[in-house]
Amino acid sequence: YPSNPQMGEGSMLERANCRAKGGAPGFKVAILGAAGGIGQPLAMLMKINPLVSVLHLYDVVNAPGVTADISHMDTGAVVRGFLGQSQLEDALTGMDLVIIPAGIPRKPGMTRDDLFKINAGIVRTLCEGIAKCCPNAIVNLISNPVNSTVPIAAEVFKKAGTYDPKKLLGVTSLDVVRANTFVAEVLGLDPREVEVPVVGGHAGVTILPLLSQVKPPCSFTQEETEYLTKRIQDGGTEVVEAKKGAGSATLSMAYAAVKFADACLKGLRGDAGVVACAFVASQVTELPFFASKVRLGRTGAEEVYQLGPLNEYERIGLEKAKKELAESIQKGISFIRN
Ligand code: NAD
Ligand code: LMR
Repeated sequence: YPSNPQMGEGSMLERANCRAKGGAPGFKVAILGAAGGIGQPLAMLMKINPLVSVLHLYDVVNAPGVTADISHMDTGAVVRGFLGQSQLEDALTGMDLVIIPAGIPRKPGMTRDDLFKINAGIVRTLCEGIAKCCPNAIVNLISNPVNSTVPIAAEVFKKAGTYDPKKLLGVTSLDVVRANTFVAEVLGLDPREVEVPVVGGHAGVTILPLLSQVKPPCSFTQEETEYLTKRIQDGGTEVVEAKKGAGSATLSMAYAAVKFADACLKGLRGDAGVVACAFVASQVTELPFFASKVRLGRTGAEEVYQLGPLNEYERIGLEKAKKELAESIQKGISFIRN
């Protein structure tokens, strides 16, 4: 589904490549699950991103409609749509960055782990496609449960012989976005001035905000610490309950995903000092995967930062987080190995 059928594929690509040659960096980005609640606003925001020259929108439903709609935006990226498994390989070929928000969302009363049954298989299939068609692409994995889907993706890539741990990033930026917002509220600051590292994973107690490391430096009472930690950990559930069965966070997630994807593209471009939190292969703890700050560069997550000094409350939180994370990681690994 080319965005302009009259013009034809060749000339549109030529246009995109010309822009790239003319000095404007142009990265090729695919969104898998592009017609969904996250996918649509994410596609819209990526179409606005000046670092993107080609945007591929893949889904098993409605991809042509979303593509036609987004393609009318008068921004630089050339948009093309791909519908169904038979077009997955075309959607992925040549991509620099693949963002995956494909899969079912939670309803009230469900945990993210309840999504495993369906989403694990979806992520496996999509990652098999990535291993075959764009093994060097950076992958931003949004589909839940992230604590298990990232290990699943890693196992699929290992099996295919294409695994590069630096290039597989579980998206936890929504936890950081929420933490910045809630902490700013308590401090009476503009959220844009606040930076909260959030480490661990992306589910319940595995989401561990490091309030002792907030920038600008500040302190919290015990009551504030407990309120903020719980609100950040339950942020997803807050939205799921407010939506009353109509899904989970989509708009704030699309915003957070674009913030993170933009950081990845800036890293790919060679910008210095691009740092963001993500769930990655890690030696920061004894677990094989863990979310922490990483430095993004031309080859992906080039440096995984240590956690820094934790206070007593955070040390206890870390132990709880690791216990649950270990199980979720193992569940993902076993899904592919067994
Ligand atoms: P949604 O149901 O609105 O959209 C999902 C899309 O995925 C749909 O368009 C569907 O057709 C598509 N899809 C299903 N199977 C597919 C396949 N095999 N290939 C390609 N596309 C496929 O759901 P949503 O609200 O957009 O959420 C998507 C996922 O993101 C959920 O698993 C949700 O839990 C997760 N999520 C993660 C975070 C995070 O912080 N990491 C935040 C919010 C939501
Ligand atoms: C979120 O944090 O909003 C997502 O993981 C979706 C969910 O199920 O909570």
